[in-house]
Amino acid sequence: MLHIEREIAEQPEIIRHLLDRERSMAQRIANAIRKFNPNFMYIAARGTSDNAARYAQYLFGIHARMPVALATPSVHTLYETSPHLSRGLVLAISQSGKSEDVCRVVTDAREQGALTVSITNDPNSPLAQASEFHLNLDTGPEISVAATKTYTAQLGAVALLLTTLKDSAELHASLAGLPDAIRETLIESEAIHNWIERYRYIERFVTIGRGYNYCTAFEISLKIKELCYIVGEGYSEADFRHGPFALIDPGFPAIVVAPAGKTQPVLKDFLEKLNERQAESLVISNDADVLHLARKPMRIPVGMPEWLTPIAAVIPGQVFAMRLATEKGHNVDQPRGLNKVTVTR
Ligand code: AGP
Repeated sequence: MLHIEREIAEQPEIIRHLLDRERSMAQRIANAIRKFNPNFMYIAARGTSDNAARYAQYLFGIHARMPVALATPSVHTLYETSPHLSRGLVLAISQSGKSEDVCRVVTDAREQGALTVSITNDPNSPLAQASEFHLNLDTGPEISVAATKTYTAQLGAVALLLTTLKDSAELHASLAGLPDAIRETLIESEAIHNWIERYRYIERFVTIGRGYNYCTAFEISLKIKELCYIVGEGYSEADFRHGPFALIDPGFPAIVVAPAGKTQPVLKDFLEKLNERQAESLVISNDADVLHLARKPMRIPVGMPEWLTPIAAVIPGQVFAMRLATEKGHNVDQPRGLNKVTVTR
């Protein structure tokens, strides 16, 4: 069995374990956030972890009405300066906790008196040590170069933090149902194996999302590029209409993440336009109306609240990328030219 296949399969249990074990640390961090009363949030991350940061932008922006910016680590490292962060909640997200630029954002922020929190898979990492508070993903080692279980765990940690901060029984109850929803999504995603051959020779693609699932579009795009060596981009549905839509010609593969919720109407309209142009639409959703518009539907559980769908909706994308890379004969656990840990400055 491939490492990535095992790591994808581990996700329900990892999320269950995370929600259980990190509850008291999430409570301590939530208390510190309330006491500090930050004016904004500033999140440092790279690669897949940066996509988890995009999720946090929407989750904290919508539920905590927090202005959330993605950090610009080069400002701190290459340009040797630091924005004014003293009234900020500075969050760093990293599987390894080793990237120097992400660490530098946290050390600069802490020096200024900001509230610093990290989310990593290694409590002994430089990043975990540099921040005042640390949420431990504790997924066990992730051997495959492509991050899968640590990504969904990062999203789970962000969701746990927000839920604890809001202290809402309704949000807590929804979060408790997440491991089962992920398990169901894994079962649904087994069908991808039966039709993946159709995409063996694609040379380009786009992934489209909006709102909470903007992150999902970026993360699936990263997985396909990294594992399958195919050129493609993640876009917001809104941005894609502002020019890139001209790319669409008959057969153009477009993976659209369109769950039930606030984004469904605009994404349904978008899918109708894709179909008018005879694009090849692959749709990740739990909404019958949009799944109906797909050449290839990829199902996530019905009834999931929209804010939690990114933690399930990425899974068909992970499986799609893994199966396509296998179909193409690539070394799926060790893509060419990459290391598990990339340290940037
Ligand atoms: C993930 O599939 C990639 N291999 C890569 O983008 C990775 O997420 C990135 O290097 C970030 O690493 P970190 O989370 O350990 O900081």
